[in-house]
Amino acid sequence: MDELDLKKAMQFLISPKNSVQEVSSFYESCAGIYENLTETLFFPVEVCVQTAIKYNSDRNCVIVDACSGTGRVGRELLNQNYKNVDAIEPSKSMIENGFKGYRNIFQKFITEEPINEIKANTYDLCTMLGGLAYGHFPPNGFDEIVRIVKKGGFAVIANTYFYLENSPEYWDGIQEKLKQLAKDGFIEEKERQIIDYLDDDKQVLLLVFKVI
Ligand SMILES: C[S@@+](CC[C@H](N)C(=O)[O-])C[C@H]1O[C@@H](n2cnc3c(N)ncnc32)[C@H](O)[C@@H]1O
Repeated sequence: MDELDLKKAMQFLISPKNSVQEVSSFYESCAGIYENLTETLFFPVEVCVQTAIKYNSDRNCVIVDACSGTGRVGRELLNQNYKNVDAIEPSKSMIENGFKGYRNIFQKFITEEPINEIKANTYDLCTMLGGLAYGHFPPNGFDEIVRIVKKGGFAVIANTYFYLENSPEYWDGIQEKLKQLAKDGFIEEKERQIIDYLDDDKQVLLLVFKVI
């Protein structure tokens, strides 16, 4: 993709027709300019990282940044002196064009299937910024997050709300899955809020759960 029409990109990200393959091609093609796009597409690193600090300020804790993209969250976590930050990201181009300071990068899609390279109960904290959109992180992917995060650990999820309120079926699926995991005793929701962010109409969903 040489020239990216931003409106088309935003429309693409909320399209209920996106297949996983289309989403993959999208990121493969825009990886080189992704970080210039994020201001418009809007994925606020600081909401995610400041919340991560609130839930685990131990700089030696072990973190996984899910749907890491070009590593904007990882870069900021390392700026904040966190030492052990892994990443899970399926797009080769996003990884190649991205931050090189992660401890490990697992080039994988998160699904309900275990990622063999990652043992259960590995992480104290999971961050995920901008991973929630149609054709992206699937609702059953939370099974894998619950598996790899230690009991007592937290998942901090931040997402531009636009992509959720405009994808009601997807958002319902995410909420249903979280409700079921809580009902089955796997997680305890700690925070869910929609933040009016800075100036205009941009809102951020912030969701935190504890693995129990
Ligand atoms: C909007 S970008 C966000 C990237 C980064 N976290 C940020 O805030 O800049 C979404 C990323 O999620 C990745 N992704 C999509 N589906 C995924 C899945 N099932 N598991 C892991 N990552 C996924 C995409 O390849 C893309 O890099």
